[in-house]
Amino acid sequence: MKITVVGTGYVGLVSGTCFAETGNNVTCVDIDVNKVKKLSNGEVTIYEPGLEKLFERNLKEGRLHFTTDLEEGIADAKVIFLALPTPPGEDGSADLSYILGVADKLGKILKDYKVIVDKSTVPVGTAEKVTAAIAKHAKVEFDVVSNPEFLREGVAVEDFMKPDRVVIGTSSERARKIMGDLYAPYVRQGNPVIYMDEKSAELTKYAANSFLATKISFMNEIAILCEKLGADVDMVRRGIGSDDRIGKRFLFPGIGYGGSCFPKDVQALVKSSEEVAYDFRILNAVMDVNEKQKLFLMPKIFNYFNNDLKGKHFALWGLAFKPNTDDIREAPALYLIDELTKAGATVSVFDPEAMNNVKGVVGDKVTYAEHQYECLDNADALIIATEWSVFRTPDFDQISGTLKNKVIFDGRNLFEVSRMKELGFHYESVGRLAAK
Ligand code: UDX
Repeated sequence: MKITVVGTGYVGLVSGTCFAETGNNVTCVDIDVNKVKKLSNGEVTIYEPGLEKLFERNLKEGRLHFTTDLEEGIADAKVIFLALPTPPGEDGSADLSYILGVADKLGKILKDYKVIVDKSTVPVGTAEKVTAAIAKHAKVEFDVVSNPEFLREGVAVEDFMKPDRVVIGTSSERARKIMGDLYAPYVRQGNPVIYMDEKSAELTKYAANSFLATKISFMNEIAILCEKLGADVDMVRRGIGSDDRIGKRFLFPGIGYGGSCFPKDVQALVKSSEEVAYDFRILNAVMDVNEKQKLFLMPKIFNYFNNDLKGKHFALWGLAFKPNTDDIREAPALYLIDELTKAGATVSVFDPEAMNNVKGVVGDKVTYAEHQYECLDNADALIIATEWSVFRTPDFDQISGTLKNKVIFDGRNLFEVSRMKELGFHYESVGRLAAK
């Protein structure tokens, strides 16, 4: 099938490449001339494990094309995916100007029937707005479908190729058939394609992310309670996770969720609720808990250093909001850097992938270490903000030998508390009992 993907950001590029991988002919359109040039020359513009190999293969075999020209890009396509940014506006609601702008243009240039798909996370009612924007000028038939993505950064290719489910929101039989054919190769293992109306599909995406964010904030509050009551969150987590209705996944306490999706989507759903005069109390609490959780380690750090961080130097491992990505949007590490420097401390940072992105935002407020152990030079303590695998089994002798004090504040519960005690570390983590 010939398809077009408008927008070559994270979702667009992964979707376009993965659609090409099953034999579709894909044209990706972007207004950014430089990006289109880079992509056409075989340069993958985002970091995502496994993407480069697929990208190179499909580009070489002529199934992936890039252009800045929308009209040329959609010429032979049967399906047009809109994978455009929907940044939060000043009031927290999603800004639809990119999507509606392209919809308006599409209305003017459509020459035959096409399915136009909202792939970006968009508020309930957007399919209606997109339909209206296209219909204003369109002289041919078309259908607008809501088909939200559920890709996790770091495993996006795998999530796309073998999705747990595909959600397709449409009231048109014709569009339903085309979308079903397009996704058939991805659900061969038996996972469902779930058809529904447009609005339910739009809400499904927000409900999924908000539910997961709720799970995390819930566990983070249980972790706080564990510390206060003298219980161990690792035990409680295992205890509840073995109940199928709760499930083992997404129960790990830490220093808060970040990234481009959870914070933005929870906020947008609260905003949508307000617009229909509903106060979504649980989600307000989820956001509130998460804001505080990002600074969960700070009181522990202050306490250890007798409330005075002036002149102290910290090593910070992990900057990305989670492992296997260079994405630092809403990353807890940035909040920690802010608090530490505000308190008069200096910080040296290391991350396997996100150093350049942090340089762009934080500049010379911190020093950038070449290596995870060099980062420890002269530091009074090590703080861990992201659970990269390379931090999980470090050389503790080297850590002990380099840090000024054997002190670790771990925001991701990477190490066994008893082991750290044996090794002679002062070790603080999230919601776990001190070693006896
Ligand atoms: C998420 C959704 O999982 C995905 O379906 C959606 O399409 C986009 O948003 P992503 O933002 O890539 O994907 O990250 P995810 O792996 O879900 O993690 C989100 C955040 O939750 C991270 O900050 C992570 O550190 C945190 N988290 C996750 C926890 O704190 N504890 C957990 O147990 C799991």
